[in-house]
Amino acid sequence: MSKDKQQDYNASSFKEAFKSNTLPYGKDKTIAIRSMFDAIAPRYDLLNRILTFGQDISWRKKSLRALGLPKNSIVIDLASGTGDLSILMRKNNLVPIGVDLSLGMLKHNRSQTSLVQSDAASLPFRSESIDGVISGFALRNFTNLDLVFDEMSRVLRPKGRFALLEVSVPNNTFLKLGHGIYFNKIVPAIGGALSDSTAYQYLPKSIEYLPPVDKMLSILGKKGFTNLGHVSFSFGIAQLFMGEKK
Ligand SMILES: C[S@@+](CC[C@H](N)C(=O)[O-])C[C@H]1O[C@@H](n2cnc3c(N)ncnc32)[C@H](O)[C@@H]1O
Repeated sequence: MSKDKQQDYNASSFKEAFKSNTLPYGKDKTIAIRSMFDAIAPRYDLLNRILTFGQDISWRKKSLRALGLPKNSIVIDLASGTGDLSILMRKNNLVPIGVDLSLGMLKHNRSQTSLVQSDAASLPFRSESIDGVISGFALRNFTNLDLVFDEMSRVLRPKGRFALLEVSVPNNTFLKLGHGIYFNKIVPAIGGALSDSTAYQYLPKSIEYLPPVDKMLSILGKKGFTNLGHVSFSFGIAQLFMGEKK
């Protein structure tokens, strides 16, 4: 297949994978996710700000505070996308390295830091060479969380820290109802109008990929992390997992 044809295939292959009610897994998921983010990269930042009413900015700041690393620490921005967390890290005198699967997202990365195209499940860094790992809204997009956590544990130095920010669903019944309407109806409508409807229909569905909090903490504990913590933001519509390598 010529290079152009390959790119055409990649750019739209997510539409097939995400149009049915069943979500893809394994290699199919990786291909679909990469092609979806390649496709939505140009308007990703705009949609992010609109759909979270700008709240993602304060969640990012809290995540960075939870990471709690000193100046000049080397921190992987895992699944960095367009680089919002890396920009914040640079402002706080940390040294970010952006890692992302999607070349489209990396091309739109505004952080002016070192960038690597790589799967989070196979990081191109030496063992115990990194002080911290941070990620924003990526956990549910990873194909194999087990492998990603293994890699985080491998590359982090002892006492190295991580902070993983993700969306979540509120526990309160009324909030859950309102959130459901917003997430399942309004988000796909706005996403469809301004970007790609299939991609923004995938967003609410993708929550299904996330293990429950206790399961997630138990997996992280088994991967050699300690001082684990979990907090909810904005009445439970976002959440943060944090911890430290033993
Ligand atoms: C919702 S975006 C979040 C981007 C950015 N972290 C932020 O906070 O705005 C999810 C990102 O995860 C990336 N991604 C998904 N699966 C990945 C994987 N297996 N390895 C590396 N990056 C991945 C996507 O390409 C996309 O840029």
